[in-house]
Amino acid sequence: MKRTLLAVAALCAVTFAHAADPVKIGFLVKQAEEPWFQDEWRYAEVAAKEKGFALVKIGIPNGEKTMAAIDNLAAQKAQGFVICAPDVKLGKAIERAAKRNNLKVVSVDDRLVDGSGKPIESIPHMGISGYAIGKQVGEGIVAEIKARKWNMADVGAIRVAYDQLPTAKERTTGAIDALKAAGFPAANIIDAPQAKTDTENAFNAANIALTKNAKFKHWVAVGLNDEAVLGAVRAAEGRGIKADNMIGIGIGGAKAAESELSKPAATAFFGSVMISAKEHGYQTSVNLVNWINGKGTPPAEILTKGMLMTRANQAEVRKAMGQ
Ligand code: GLA
Repeated sequence: MKRTLLAVAALCAVTFAHAADPVKIGFLVKQAEEPWFQDEWRYAEVAAKEKGFALVKIGIPNGEKTMAAIDNLAAQKAQGFVICAPDVKLGKAIERAAKRNNLKVVSVDDRLVDGSGKPIESIPHMGISGYAIGKQVGEGIVAEIKARKWNMADVGAIRVAYDQLPTAKERTTGAIDALKAAGFPAANIIDAPQAKTDTENAFNAANIALTKNAKFKHWVAVGLNDEAVLGAVRAAEGRGIKADNMIGIGIGGAKAAESELSKPAATAFFGSVMISAKEHGYQTSVNLVNWINGKGTPPAEILTKGMLMTRANQAEVRKAMGQ
């Protein structure tokens, strides 16, 4: 009898301990080495400390690692995860894996799509307004072209492209549309498709574009993020095209942009439209935890804004973005 009671008491203790365990969520990102994603993780950690939930950070460079990470989270008794997938077409598989494991899922940065390429509405998302932010890039470049009194006919534009990712296509389309709206000749725009969204692949893509179009006197460069534009800037430098003959504006504003904009001598990396890693890391996590705690489903789609940051206003922009 006594033994049975003890056993029951022990069982209750286990149950209570379990009920009192903090919520645990995963934060899965496609490129853990990229400063943007490290910032997102950093702000998710701030949220975890503040709100008292457990955070598991996992890098998911491919589909296989993504599926393994979801199973791993379930085995660790997590209740949900935030994800920026290595391929948005994994959307349905991710949703199925989450359901199977009873995990709630929200996406960040890259919106997950179904087999026909349509956004999966049942997965709440936070991303940037790609086209609008791309337009800010293009408008920033146009203003600088005008300030330098360049003749647009002499300027080549490199669009470092990664069109299989919808947000990447929206961003670079916005940038190019802003150039065209200001009278930039469509014939001077060169697509440079990158195989992966990092600086090395952008460098290789831009190098080919530069080799094939040696006729231009000046250059501008756009891409989906800072790494893309940095790649183009480095490729141009390799050919002697420097800050006075090139204007590159990226998107992101994390460490890569910060160190480039803080170099004693200006490079062709003219600026970056800074976006909010803080909101993406902190708020997605909090929204997910609230959802797990029965405090409402996160909004279906939140689009965040950006601010053009250059060497001239770096400190103010960081302050205004709270980063
Ligand atoms: C995509 C890009 C990242 C970053 C985020 C911002 O995921 O690959 O570099 O720009 O969007 O939302």
